[in-house]
Amino acid sequence: MSAKPATVTDRRYKISNFMESFLIKGGVPLHGEVEISGSKNAALPIMAATLLTGEPCVIRRVPDLSDTQFMVQILESLGAMAKFANGTLTVHAKKIKGYADYELVRKMRGSICIAGPLLARLHKARISLPGGCIIGARPINLHLKGFEALGAKIKIEGGYVDATVKKLAGTTMFLGGRAGSTVLGTANVMMAAVLADGVTVIESAACEPEVVDLADFLTAMGAKISGAGSPTITVTGVEKLHGAEHEVIPDRIEAATFAIAAAATDGEITIRGARADHLRAVIDKLNEAGVSVEKRGANLVVRRKGKLKPSDVTTLPYSGFPTDVQAQMTAMFTLAPGISIITERIFESRFMHVSELARLGADIEIEGPSAIVKGGRPLSGAPVMASDLRASAALVIAGLAAKGTTQVNRIYHLDRGYERMDAKLRKLGARIQRVEEK
Ligand code: EPZ
Repeated sequence: MSAKPATVTDRRYKISNFMESFLIKGGVPLHGEVEISGSKNAALPIMAATLLTGEPCVIRRVPDLSDTQFMVQILESLGAMAKFANGTLTVHAKKIKGYADYELVRKMRGSICIAGPLLARLHKARISLPGGCIIGARPINLHLKGFEALGAKIKIEGGYVDATVKKLAGTTMFLGGRAGSTVLGTANVMMAAVLADGVTVIESAACEPEVVDLADFLTAMGAKISGAGSPTITVTGVEKLHGAEHEVIPDRIEAATFAIAAAATDGEITIRGARADHLRAVIDKLNEAGVSVEKRGANLVVRRKGKLKPSDVTTLPYSGFPTDVQAQMTAMFTLAPGISIITERIFESRFMHVSELARLGADIEIEGPSAIVKGGRPLSGAPVMASDLRASAALVIAGLAAKGTTQVNRIYHLDRGYERMDAKLRKLGARIQRVEEK
């Protein structure tokens, strides 16, 4: 492999160089142990929740990613003091303002979840509307519906959402939408409701473990919340919240990604620090495909039992099969002889990986919300383009299983959600290198 190793540009904020790629020499079964990082999708709303108090908060096991680095920048642009080192983030939002930097918020959709805390604490929030997203329209109408139900006035002008309120008042609301519950919508409204007058009941709330982790942190700050993890969450407003410490849950999507990489390469790995109870739907599908996932103490041991078998997957809100694992599973099923049908029910256009997998020799047809995978044809390495976070993970998995060399370009998408993915894979024996894109 002659390509020039990548030079990292801005380490302080770890914003990867756009022009980096992974060079993967495939065909090596993964072996060994991998440690799972903290969850990106739990950390982001928890980081925003630190804005709810003027006292210091300490958050541990925050993954070092471009998304969490963006959130640190956003907290600082609001006036908070933030120190992030070795996975521990200390935030002191003593004095803050109600509007965040347009460019920063626009860059990362997850930053929408600062709206609830700002509205609760300052009774006003002015943030840029999150832009479109390659995986779907991703409107925020349910977030705004929740804020309005709590009494806020919402104005959308010049690309900004302006929310103002004299005092938030608890109420009962239904937060279900086109695809069922909303994860960040539930998080945002829950964070607005913790300082509201009276009781708020959120019906059709998201049940994701990340919502439960946020509720645990808010409770540690003095909030009164019950029912997190169920479709009905009840929040009894309090006067004030105080500082708190919290450790973020492990990243179930990262754990699922490594489990699928082991299965696709016919390897055997031990996943350390993952929560099996957060992965039931994924483990169930892997078992159906002929992959054993054995719980050994706090670890999961993943290995194939012979040939991969085809199966059908439909993405659903939690505890159904996670949409954030759909692309990786699609890549794995290209290796299973027979027909697998993958149906995406959460996002309208989350099959960007399909045309790139075809470049590696996969046979997949899109029929409406489903991908029909005719699996079993060996994959061979080629240059492919990452389009979004999870699609990129699918291309890495396919590259690890393919014969020859695969170049995955635009890996800045991966750095948004996977901490040191290439280093972790190298530790499992993968021949993967981060290089500057040619
Ligand atoms: C969270 O996004 C995750 N992001 C996503 O992970 C994940 O795919 C998604 O939940 C679903 O599990 C973070 O937590 C930062 P939703 P979120 O609101 O909350 C529609 C990754 O790869 N909807 O639950 O933005 C929406 O369009 C990312 O890590 C409305 O119609 O997703 C979608 O079809 C990608 N109106 C569905 O609901 C709204 O106001 C579910 O979206 C809000 C959502």
